[in-house]
Amino acid sequence: MTQFPHLFSPIRLGPTTIKNRIVSLPHGTRLGSGGNSTEREALYFAEKAKGGTGLIIHGALMMDETTWMPGAYVRVDRDECIPGLRRVADSVHQYGTRIIGQLLHLGRQRYVGSFMPVSMFRPFLSLFGEKAHGKLNWRISRDWSRVTGEARRE
Ligand SMILES: Cc1cc2nc3c(=O)[nH]c(=O)nc-3n(C[C@H](O)[C@H](O)[C@H](O)COP(=O)(O)O)c2cc1C
Repeated sequence: MTQFPHLFSPIRLGPTTIKNRIVSLPHGTRLGSGGNSTEREALYFAEKAKGGTGLIIHGALMMDETTWMPGAYVRVDRDECIPGLRRVADSVHQYGTRIIGQLLHLGRQRYVGSFMPVSMFRPFLSLFGEKAHGKLNWRISRDWSRVTGEARRE
């Protein structure tokens, strides 16, 4: 371990300390069900924590109805999402690992079987064009501030 003194030493991240510099990058696990995190997902992240990961970033957490991709993705915009997310957090905290969530907003597109635009500008993943949604930027800002505000509530 002395070969990698920084990799295995703690680092401060805002108000918290991460036990080492090993980070699990965000990736959608597709282990959700009905928009909620499942026990299987908690077990999946627990294994990473058990292996010594200092920080886990939970990928692609859907932040509202328009962003939700039905299937095995996890949402964060409803109170009923909290127990599943808490189970994930508890499962990694028992090993001294920290976890943060990556909020996902699909911006100028939404998922309706495939990615479709809601803007006249070409979105990232689609080649279709459509009339601009006048209040879109405002709405995205509002969604972000609502979700981050509600996260603080817990
Ligand atoms: C299945 C899969 C899902 C991913 N989901 C996300 C995601 O939700 N958010 C994100 O920022 N990156 C996502 N990524 C990108 C990874 O975080 C990472 O940047 C990428 O896999 C490159 O790292 P690697 O070479 O170690 O795989 C995903 C990658 C994979 C393979």
